[in-house]
Amino acid sequence: MPIKILMVCLGNICRSPLAEGILASKLPKNKFTVDSAGTGSWHIGHSPDDRSIAVAKKNKINISNQKGRQFSTNDFDAFDYIYVMDNSNYSDVIELAKNEDQKEKVHLILNELFPNENVDVPDPYFGLPNGFEIVYNMLDEVCNVISKKIIEKHQ
Ligand code: 4NP
Repeated sequence: MPIKILMVCLGNICRSPLAEGILASKLPKNKFTVDSAGTGSWHIGHSPDDRSIAVAKKNKINISNQKGRQFSTNDFDAFDYIYVMDNSNYSDVIELAKNEDQKEKVHLILNELFPNENVDVPDPYFGLPNGFEIVYNMLDEVCNVISKKIIEKHQ
């Protein structure tokens, strides 16, 4: 059984599709699967934002085939690790958890880089054009830490 990791943001079109593509590129495919979802329902079935697709492509990662979906309570059982992009995603997901085991699967992603600091990956959707570049670099850095940690733990 592969180890399953889920990346979660609000819309599932900007941040979590990037996080999915970046982490998947750092993990061996035979042992790990990576997916993403949004807490909101606006972008179900949509492709990632063009700006996320572009910054990923610039870094040789193809996320253009991903399709948006909404986080579901089934995801707590289906995934081993759930990484959320910001504090608001964290509250939304934790609110849906039924027990402590489910809550323990949920991690604020940048706490892997800056433990206990509860730093958000900023939502680039309405922001400056270079917001996507900034988010890409943050996610690339934290996914280096996550991939090393998970590979070590499950070898
Ligand atoms: P994301 O960004 O959570 O990084 O995918 C957003 C994209 C769209 C919306 C909100 C956040 N929206 O409200 O449509």
